[in-house]
Amino acid sequence: MATKIPESYIDMVRSKTNIVDLIGQTVQLHKAGKNLFGLCPFHEERTPSFSVNEEKQIFHCFSCHRGGNVFKFLMELEQISFPEAVIKVAEFSDLPLPENVVAANQQSQHSETRQLQKLYQDAQVLYSHILTKTQVGEDALNYLHQREMDDAAIAEFGLGYAPQQANVLLDFLTSRQVPRELLVRSGLFAQREDGTLIDRFRGRVMFPIQDQNGNVIAFSGRILVQKEHEPKYLNSPETKIFQKRDTLYHFAQARPIMRQAQTAILFEGFMDVITAFRAGVKNGVASMGTSLTSQQLYLLSRAAKKLIICYDGDEPGQHASAAALQLLRNSDFEVGVVSLPERKDPDEFVKKYGASAFQKQLQDHVQTPIQFTLAQLANKYNLNQDADRLAYVQAALQEIVKLPSVIEQDLYLKQVASQGNVDLAALHQEFEGITRQFHRQQRAQQRQNRDVTAPTAQQPPTPVLSTKLDGAAISERRLLYLAIRQDSLLARLSADEDFHFNNEQIQELFEAWRDYARSPGEHTLAAFVDLITPDLQSLLLEIEMMEVPEDVSDEEIGDYQRNVAQAQIRQALTAAQKNVQHATEVGDSEAEMIWLDQVLTLKRQLI
Ligand code: UTP
Ligand code: MN
Repeated sequence: MATKIPESYIDMVRSKTNIVDLIGQTVQLHKAGKNLFGLCPFHEERTPSFSVNEEKQIFHCFSCHRGGNVFKFLMELEQISFPEAVIKVAEFSDLPLPENVVAANQQSQHSETRQLQKLYQDAQVLYSHILTKTQVGEDALNYLHQREMDDAAIAEFGLGYAPQQANVLLDFLTSRQVPRELLVRSGLFAQREDGTLIDRFRGRVMFPIQDQNGNVIAFSGRILVQKEHEPKYLNSPETKIFQKRDTLYHFAQARPIMRQAQTAILFEGFMDVITAFRAGVKNGVASMGTSLTSQQLYLLSRAAKKLIICYDGDEPGQHASAAALQLLRNSDFEVGVVSLPERKDPDEFVKKYGASAFQKQLQDHVQTPIQFTLAQLANKYNLNQDADRLAYVQAALQEIVKLPSVIEQDLYLKQVASQGNVDLAALHQEFEGITRQFHRQQRAQQRQNRDVTAPTAQQPPTPVLSTKLDGAAISERRLLYLAIRQDSLLARLSADEDFHFNNEQIQELFEAWRDYARSPGEHTLAAFVDLITPDLQSLLLEIEMMEVPEDVSDEEIGDYQRNVAQAQIRQALTAAQKNVQHATEVGDSEAEMIWLDQVLTLKRQLI
């Protein structure tokens, strides 16, 4: 973005945003001592080494050494520039953008992301025009009408038609002087063997897919006349702007309604989302023809507390529900499952039984995960045969034991006893054994986790520094830490011409802070980190996350300074001794005398 965001605005955004809230959206944080800890979002790990300090408004990972303030967090997480991060943080905190930034934001259509979005937007307009306004689109429009899709729904979902011919979109975009390179990268075309381009979507009803801000980023095309060896739905390939795992069909439009209802409904197919919408159920979304991902759950978790899974009633659909439940196991969602009768998908159900029957299903026939799982088990076994019945009971107990509440367990034990036609007291006895075994397994699991790792709330991780620090190195880190907080110490060290830190980076940090502290206005660490190089940032944050006592006596500070100075003397001594050795070897007795003298002087300075 060309326009510079005013410094004062950046400060305002930073000061009005709590880093804990922002990071808390991505990372589960737990308090441990002064800091909060969680699993680092920037690399795979099983032990939390990612820490956030609320007081200082900074984060730091002891393992990958990334760290910084709110802006840096988003820059790393989303791989965006500093100004982009400022804007995102402002949006997160509901702060209005300065006018020049809004204008520049709209104008900066030059990035590849913008260009691709524009391309998809143009393609969507073209396809929708062909569907609704041209003769070429007639068959497709009839097809949609015959599927009870009215014009309002067609408009609402931006549906379109890609004709059978090979070059419709290609000619359209080429006439608008879109560079070939961009066309290739857009995923809207396939390449023939001779390198020429051809429209990827042909003879398909087009469903535009949008990102969470409502920009079209991909298409799914449903074949109009089913042919062998051709998929029913064809999706855009993944591109710079489209990643399946991050995308939910119709999420941008459904989000406000999800927020209101605090409930999201997950369907399998795009058609289901549209049919549900027409039936008055407007908080529905679908994943992209693949199983649910944790990224999609994350999006949903920001919009709703409750998640209802309403997949197809056929076997694959029920299988997918079970897989989704597995993924949802450790989430905070209140989860419900709706299984439609007669193996129907929502679209077929509404067609047969109507909108209000569908709404009723979503209201009155929501199963809890355990109800769903038990019902699936009951289906799997033939409860009229003894062997099957016992297998059912065993499998059911293994599920019931996972329930957190004893009352709930009791409820379902009764149900299983009656369904499996077994004596309740006997079942309870069996269950006790299973419970004991379950707890043993859990404890073993916990022990295993702890061994490989992991700090608990009582036992925060000790920062592991890349190299072991000696006393002097620790002293100079503490000295810098204190100088950042105590103006008097900063002034004293700055005035002392003989004083300097041994570690060059710490010296650089010291000088940078000294200059920053002289600049007018308020001085905060979170603002300072924006001014220094990533290397220095990382070191500074490592230092900031050390447990340094703040009420240090002047004597202790004196000790730190002495430690630093002594280390310098030791260094000089080692160098002088080497020089003596060298002079002796080459037989330069004059130099030998001078260096010996130096060695003695330095040795006297050592305590
Ligand atoms: P379905 O086959 O259940 O879709 O696939 P549907 O909504 O019932 O389709 P209609 O009613 O026949 O038009 C569910 C989802 O799986 C993905 C799509 O995302 C679809 O919405 N899918 C399906 C594909 O990606 N490719 C396919 O060939 C089929
Ligand atoms: Mn269907």
